[in-house]
Amino acid sequence: MSDDDALTRMRHAFAEVELPATRTLDEAYAVKVKYLGKKGLVTELSRALGSLPPDVRRERGQQVNALKAALEQAYDDHCRALTEQAEQAALATFEDLTDVVAPEPGTLHPLTRTRRALERVFASLGFDVADGPHVELARLNFDDLNIGPDHPARDMADTFFVAPPPGSRWQPGDLVLRTHTSPVQVRTMLERTPPIRIVALGTVFRRDDDATHSPMFHQIEGLCVDEGTSLADLRATLYRFVSALFERELQVRFRPSFFPFVEPGAEFDMQCPFCGGKGCSVCKGSGWIELGGAGMVHPAVFEACGIDAERYTGWAFGFGIDRMAMLMHQVPDLRLLFEGDVRFLEQFPC
Ligand code: PHE
Repeated sequence: MSDDDALTRMRHAFAEVELPATRTLDEAYAVKVKYLGKKGLVTELSRALGSLPPDVRRERGQQVNALKAALEQAYDDHCRALTEQAEQAALATFEDLTDVVAPEPGTLHPLTRTRRALERVFASLGFDVADGPHVELARLNFDDLNIGPDHPARDMADTFFVAPPPGSRWQPGDLVLRTHTSPVQVRTMLERTPPIRIVALGTVFRRDDDATHSPMFHQIEGLCVDEGTSLADLRATLYRFVSALFERELQVRFRPSFFPFVEPGAEFDMQCPFCGGKGCSVCKGSGWIELGGAGMVHPAVFEACGIDAERYTGWAFGFGIDRMAMLMHQVPDLRLLFEGDVRFLEQFPC
């Protein structure tokens, strides 16, 4: 085998066999070292040139240098290709951000919509929107509303009591998750002077959990305090309200009932908006749908709030917003409203 053949074979082994077999820069470098490193095969050849006669050495030297240059070139090309491949592979793991489908715009939750619809109607009837905290003083949630210490609603079994923060001025039993929006009546009467006309909408909490009750639900409270206002105004307001909300004339009716903070007290129903009172599956044939409680503000509540019961009268009402949302949007199960299931929510597109 001639020396030329040996160089050709070395070039072939390096550039056609060993280098192409490498998949990483480290592997490629190891091959380079084997040939071109200090003790590499090609380096050995260069070193051996010294022992050749001068006339052969020159030509042989040029051949070896050409080989070196060829191997360097092959090495550089291979490394560039490896780097490019690695980059392509890394890019392939990224999502093509230009290829995503534009996200659908979100929509308002059906409860939020109902809430806003109620606020709009009451605003048009001259009511302000008031607010109160979810963690409430038991005094405002119960005592100031004439709900005495032994009233069953204060039972641990019905109410979530909140442990007072360590070092705070509150004792165990002083703080609750409000069980209704009625403490906003007290807050409003303590803060404002009559005439007062407010609605308060928000989350309330009770230890209830079944198909028609959730431990967290929503109420709207209404309060009017003025000179000479009466049950007739309460009734007219509720009548106006349900008629405006359902955009048809709907009657309301009162049934005598008891709430410690009103006297007289009532529960009130509206005519079924679906059958107009004839009787249908929604109203279970009765023609009426139960909404909530109402009545004239009890003098004991006025007293707790520093309002002169000789001069002013007042009325209040409260009912569940969730039930109203179910009616307005024909939702069959209360729990659907709280599960956050997109398949349910996307049925309310705008
Ligand atoms: N707070 C009462 C409840 O949660 C409803 C109500 C409000 C009753 C105002 C009368 C007056 O059941």
